[in-house]
Amino acid sequence: MKLEKCLTSDNLNKKLLNIRYAVRGPIVDRAQQIERELEKGVSKPFSRVVRANIGDCQALGQKPITFVRQVLALAACPDLMNSPEIPDDVKERVKEILDDCTERSVGSYSPSAGLNIVRRRVAEYLAARDGVPASSDDIHLGSGASDVIKSVLTLFVEDVDGKPPAVMIPIPQYPLFSGTLSELGLVQVPYYLAEDAEWALQVDELERSWNEASEHSCVRALVVINPGNPTGQVLSRENIEEIIKFAHKRELFLLADEVYQENIISKPFHSFKKVMYSMGSPYNSMELASFVTCSKGWAAECGLRAGFVELLRVAAPVLSAFRAARAVMQCPNVLGQCVMDCVMRPPRPGEASYSRWSGERARVARVLRERAATAHRTFNSIPGYSCNVIDGSMFAFPRIEIPARAQDDAAQMNLAPDEFYCLRLLEETGVCVVPGTGFGQKPETFHFRTTILHPREEFQHMMDSITRFHNNFLQKYSE
Ligand SMILES: Cc1ncc(COP(=O)(O)O)c(C=O)c1O
Repeated sequence: MKLEKCLTSDNLNKKLLNIRYAVRGPIVDRAQQIERELEKGVSKPFSRVVRANIGDCQALGQKPITFVRQVLALAACPDLMNSPEIPDDVKERVKEILDDCTERSVGSYSPSAGLNIVRRRVAEYLAARDGVPASSDDIHLGSGASDVIKSVLTLFVEDVDGKPPAVMIPIPQYPLFSGTLSELGLVQVPYYLAEDAEWALQVDELERSWNEASEHSCVRALVVINPGNPTGQVLSRENIEEIIKFAHKRELFLLADEVYQENIISKPFHSFKKVMYSMGSPYNSMELASFVTCSKGWAAECGLRAGFVELLRVAAPVLSAFRAARAVMQCPNVLGQCVMDCVMRPPRPGEASYSRWSGERARVARVLRERAATAHRTFNSIPGYSCNVIDGSMFAFPRIEIPARAQDDAAQMNLAPDEFYCLRLLEETGVCVVPGTGFGQKPETFHFRTTILHPREEFQHMMDSITRFHNNFLQKYSE
């Protein structure tokens, strides 16, 4: 008999069925529905939905950086080159980029690792950041960090000595990792971050996790997210040294997701690369993939999709295979590469765009600092809440106590307690946050993640709504 469809749930790639990405999950779908209901005039106890589910600064009202947008406008439309409105340093910048584009057009494919000029600028930025050499040969640009993270994880898809390959990921983690590992069929090896130690990575816990996983799989790589998403910690240099020593002892390839390195609030950021160098032999010859993006930091150009991996000290055949697989995808978005160029080499003192750019950047940094302080203060003032200091990133991840009776109600609806909590919060206040379940958390603990970059008034409204909601929730379920 002829099949109605060639592709069905029975013959679909089953690995795709396990992918969960709560940042755009069911609660967010419900938020969208509520927005439509509000438009139709359905009565609710609130007048608008406040989206706090995703780290997308411009979606929360952050204005694009003028210098970046001028470069993009001119790169896309070089006819504007004579416009008196465009500063000279922007014109100069675009000329340099277009000189490196085939037929001087951002509409041509670039080399698959990215434009040479942009990769050179990335190397200069990294060398200045770390005070150690960087080479553009090690830089592979991508359409966002997600793109290159997936390409690097793909390298590990191979059984070793009859054991399935496995990758260690933090819990809580950013679900790009769990989702991509599911898609690739790699075993996920969770290690818990220590909430009562400011979300540090503790070597005992890394060892526990590695030992358990090694009984049935071959652990090949260790993912660290620093600054943390959703947890907002910035790792100390000593902690990074311990992690590197652990990875060396267990012969693990290190993946350092450092996409929030420019979203620093209170503690200095140390790159894994810099710390490895400073530790000397044998650590300075370990393999490392570290990731950076233009979606975060002061540029926050999520929609333009620009990121890169610095891939260090990998064996030559591995690098060839990586390059071949990347080449099949042609090249990253070339306008995104223009953004990367601006981020890696922003205007300097004395250049026409410097003063406007530094003012805009300072504003972004001030908003982040202020919101982080407000979130920390507010969450720690709510009974049943606790929240670690937010040292970096753009999220708060408070822990919440959920009364037993509320947990029973959640179970009846087939929801995890924190999913139930976030759904009630959305239905009663319009505030849309992501349950901790979507990132992973220790059993019997409950959290949610909220983005913190809303305009001040909206952010205060959100903090007030959450506080009121929680007090009512406690009252209802503690009676
Ligand atoms: C920790 C982390 N890594 C990677 C990414 C991917 O960023 P993009 O693909 O937008 O560059 C994100 C995005 O939110 C993130 O939070």
